Amino acid sequence: MLLESKNINFRYGKGPFIIKDFTMELNSGEIVGLSGNSGSGKTTLARILAGYEKPYEGHVLLDGKPLPEDRFNPVQLVFQHPEKSVNPHWKMHKTLNEGWSPEDSLIHSLGIEEEWLQRWPNELSGGELQRFCVTRALSPDTKFLIADEMTTMLDAITQAHIWNVVIDIAKKRNIGVLVISHERHLIDRICSKVIEIN
Ligand SMILES: Nc1ncnc2c1ncn2[C@@H]1O[C@H](COP(=O)(O)OP(=O)(O)O)[C@@H](O)[C@H]1O
Ligand SMILES: [Mg+2]
Repeated sequence: MLLESKNINFRYGKGPFIIKDFTMELNSGEIVGLSGNSGSGKTTLARILAGYEKPYEGHVLLDGKPLPEDRFNPVQLVFQHPEKSVNPHWKMHKTLNEGWSPEDSLIHSLGIEEEWLQRWPNELSGGELQRFCVTRALSPDTKFLIADEMTTMLDAITQAHIWNVVIDIAKKRNIGVLVISHERHLIDRICSKVIEIN
């Protein structure tokens, strides 16, 4: 499969254009980096690529068609701040099983411990919580993963563990991954190519 953005222009309201004529392609099984300074529009692009935000001009296409809006989105986004992407009023088992039910082997591979499932999100560390968000994004129907500073807030050991698992799964399932990060060493280590957007 192919995820492509074609000549994307984007501005918030009547503000300046933050994304200007941005075109890229991500193929199944590819691990591509997107690097740029803070404020260069990486998060905005991540949201556009995953269909959370509509471009002002241009298109995001999955095998030549717009992203589906009425069924599971095969383009999944994981954010930098897991505490903002889970419902604070739900225990973790409910969050984990919201869209689909991950199998035990996937849950275990991400290092999620059984007893965490009965906790509230504020009873987990950022790294523990992010493991849930990553698991949730790796549905059997996920074809592309947009990882927006997915491990930036985490310590080096947790960062390495999560990326090892994600890359392993991406290779096995032929998922295309966009690694968005300002940490160039991470991108250089895991990506086959890099797009710069300054
Ligand atoms: N909701 C918003 N409304 C207006 N401006 C925004 C909004 N979100 C981000 N911006 C602005 O868009 C620019 C790009 O932000 P962002 O995409 O978050 O960049 P990055 O992820 O590379 O740091 C910044 O100048 C930021 O202030
Ligand atoms: Mg950002």
